[in-house]
Amino acid sequence: DAVDRAAADIFVSLAPQPHGSRRPFRVALAGGTTPRALYALLASSEYRHRVAWDQVAFFFGDERAVPPDHPDSNYRAANDALLRLLDISEKCVHRMKGEVPDLEAAAAAYERELQSAFEGARVPHFDLIFLGMGPDGHTASLFPGSSALAECKRLVVPVTDAPKPPLRRLTLTIPVLNAAKLVLFMATGADKAPALREVLKGTASPDQYPAKHVRPGPERLAWLVDEAAGGTL
Ligand code: 6PG
Repeated sequence: DAVDRAAADIFVSLAPQPHGSRRPFRVALAGGTTPRALYALLASSEYRHRVAWDQVAFFFGDERAVPPDHPDSNYRAANDALLRLLDISEKCVHRMKGEVPDLEAAAAAYERELQSAFEGARVPHFDLIFLGMGPDGHTASLFPGSSALAECKRLVVPVTDAPKPPLRRLTLTIPVLNAAKLVLFMATGADKAPALREVLKGTASPDQYPAKHVRPGPERLAWLVDEAAGGTL
């Protein structure tokens, strides 16, 4: 709960406020299970009135190659816990279309959507990117030893050999993660402790612990971890 509340408080402190000056706020949501309680908290009566939601544009850090109503869909998880409950307009939700058979085309389409949403910037600078981390140190759908880790031009790439099912996914690349104004990792549970120690203090190659590639710069990276994940740091 403390991790969720800290993440929600940071989000609210950065997002446009009701009756505040109008400004775009572009956030990329994390997949997996960790952020679901955060999404529910943001949609709760305690938090929902503290953000001018009509100025927030939602994107995704990665998506599985499944339809948007599939149980494995990161979009479905965010929609069920947050987007649908806040009645966010569809034009403010930029879903990665993982369901299309041609993932290369889907990646290229999302890249165009990013460039259009970020006024043609070569690399989008998200206001905030939420990320999770797997027990192997992967983040988004950037897995240990993946060729996607070396991608330094494309913003979005397909993954067809993910060790964490589903096999096929779409993911933002490291340059996009490192261009964010703030990256907020959430990692909880003892199963994340070894990778977290390696990422934050170890000497292993970032290619073996991809979360270690995420270095947006000073004051632009924060980890929210619980005792089980970070107690021995
Ligand atoms: C995904 C996520 C992935 C996730 C980690 C942690 O699509 O699987 O983007 O990077 O954040 O695997 O997952 P949990 O939060 O479920 O532990």
